[in-house]
Amino acid sequence: MAKFPEEILQRLRQAERIAILTGAGISAESGIPTFRDAQTGFWSRMKPEDLATPEAFERNPKLVWDWYGYRRELVAQASPNAGHYALVKMAEHVPQLTLITQNVDSLHQRAGSTNVLELHGNIGRVKCSKEHVVIEESAWLPADEIGVPRCPRCRALLRPDIVWFGEVLPTKTFNHAKAACIQADVVFSIGTSGLVPPAAMLPVTAIEHGAYGIEVNTDQTYLSDTFECCLRGASGIILPALVKAAWPL
Ligand code: OAD
Repeated sequence: MAKFPEEILQRLRQAERIAILTGAGISAESGIPTFRDAQTGFWSRMKPEDLATPEAFERNPKLVWDWYGYRRELVAQASPNAGHYALVKMAEHVPQLTLITQNVDSLHQRAGSTNVLELHGNIGRVKCSKEHVVIEESAWLPADEIGVPRCPRCRALLRPDIVWFGEVLPTKTFNHAKAACIQADVVFSIGTSGLVPPAAMLPVTAIEHGAYGIEVNTDQTYLSDTFECCLRGASGIILPALVKAAWPL
């Protein structure tokens, strides 16, 4: 079993409240590409401004709709990995664990995590581009020459229920996440480059309020220096080993 510094194990065992921020890296071992990995990341081949902004959708709704459709398929075929399951186990040992994710793939929920705070939406949901009401697939009006289904209430185009660049995060969810970080004894940043505010700043907020910070990432990030402890490697390997080391029984 991997050796972890005794201080981390003690901090975990004693923690009353743990806040965890996850990013695309935790789903990489499930076969879902990250955004910024140099070879395989979505943004190494495509530009976010062409696919993940309200302006991109206005310019070319079908391109955006089809790209999210492709990603929805990828997610549907994927399964949670050992990293997702380790966080379910961790929650069994901690009085209050708040799981905050930038991911839109539902893999935490499919692994069994409950009350997941989704900061960037969910790729499984579709909403009206005008009224922002979620519309179930059975109610979509079929696509016309534009190539994107329409809202049955107002006939506006439908879009993925994802927070795009330039859009505001869901306020209640973000405030809940921030409050959990302010109160946390330990904060984790797992599989995220920490480059997209305001989500990226949540672990920093936790540390500023006294939390012990742990980063789990295959690589160094520009926020690495903020954390007391950086565990380098794949989250699907590190997290199960860490949970086992902290709570052996
Ligand atoms: P990024 O692609 O920016 O970062 C992924 C991070 O995961 C990198 O730091 C990798 O080193 C790390 N990583 C890769 N494989 C890993 C593994 N097996 N175990 C641990 N770490 C690993 O993804 P995010 O930080 O999630 O926004 O990106 C933030 C936001 O930018 C996303 O939510 C998305 C994107 O544009 C929206 O879609 C709104």
